[in-house]
Amino acid sequence: MEDPILMVRNLNLKFNLRGQTLHALRDVSLDIYKGESLAIVGESGSGKSVLTKCFMGLNDQNGFIESGSIRYKGEELTAFKSEKDWLRIRGHEIAMVMQDPMTSLNPLKTIGAQILEAISLHQKELSPAQKHRAMLDILSDVGIQDPERRSRQYPHEFSGGMRQRVVIAIAVACKPNILICDEPTTALDVTIQAQILKLIKDLVRDRGITAIYITHDLGVVANVATRIAVMYGGDIVEIGTSEEIFYDPRHPYTWALLSSLPQLGVKGEKLYSIQGTQPNLFAHVEGDAFAPRNPYALKIDFVKRPPLFEISPTHFARTWLLDPRAPKMEPPEIIQKLSRREVSLNG
Ligand SMILES: Nc1ncnc2c1ncn2[C@@H]1O[C@H](COP(=O)(O)OP(=O)(O)O)[C@@H](O)[C@H]1O
Ligand SMILES: [Mg+2]
Repeated sequence: MEDPILMVRNLNLKFNLRGQTLHALRDVSLDIYKGESLAIVGESGSGKSVLTKCFMGLNDQNGFIESGSIRYKGEELTAFKSEKDWLRIRGHEIAMVMQDPMTSLNPLKTIGAQILEAISLHQKELSPAQKHRAMLDILSDVGIQDPERRSRQYPHEFSGGMRQRVVIAIAVACKPNILICDEPTTALDVTIQAQILKLIKDLVRDRGITAIYITHDLGVVANVATRIAVMYGGDIVEIGTSEEIFYDPRHPYTWALLSSLPQLGVKGEKLYSIQGTQPNLFAHVEGDAFAPRNPYALKIDFVKRPPLFEISPTHFARTWLLDPRAPKMEPPEIIQKLSRREVSLNG
């Protein structure tokens, strides 16, 4: 692979909350490569959003990076002192599409005006007529028909799915290098979900944009991500190509996430769900944060943080099960069936 466009090293993010400190990102390291589509998956609260907000300086005021490094094209983002530094990055270099399109759109301005603003900010050299043309082109690129008429309408005149298309149009109009999609379809109907994901997939491919998809649902990214990072309790516990994560997963948390996918369930049988609760990030986490919920946990998992074991040059997992001294464990039946391709993720 090429040099990473974004490099995260030993990142520790904390939040001050009512006299206590919540350790939201615990020593996270991650490389993101130019042109790839990386999915970050994990249960709600695992730190997916706060991680990517660190790339844009968007975390809440009570949050602070205690240690670690984030390098974007060689520049150290953790050294930024003011909002002015971030304005160079936000939108222009790294853009974000969030779950609720209404929070990103101005209800008082027409769709066309909002897209024109983005175009004017990032393509100052264009004439007014060229900008108008570019605005209409981008609306049709995101699948909005009759763009001339639609551009004169307001956000409330669009359906949820159409609004998300507009948000995507605005993000792409800024010609970012990286597009972060944070649960972009969670609020939408299943059929619309697939259409929006396909749209993002095609847009980033055609424009050479590096994509980061965030989701709590592994099934959603099966067809869009080239690589998958699995987060648990503020840490990345497994990372690999989509192929490796779906068909050769190694961390028991990844097994659990996969086992709970509805499309792998047997009709009539109760769907698997992960028992127990997520770690308390106000307290110090000992060992593997997943150990208390992990039926496969070894004694050492409760005591010592597992190192990142290499399974292949692209596949790593943080679990003591991969230590050569660990007893041999068989993954759950459904995971073995997946590995043997006896079941399919597409139902
Ligand atoms: N402003 C904040 N103050 C305190 N805790 C926060 C704040 N923002 C996020 N957190 C905490 O950080 C952790 C990770 O949150 P988040 O990244 O939103 O999870 P995810 O996106 O994976 O659902 C959670 O425990 C959440 O409660
Ligand atoms: Mg989130």
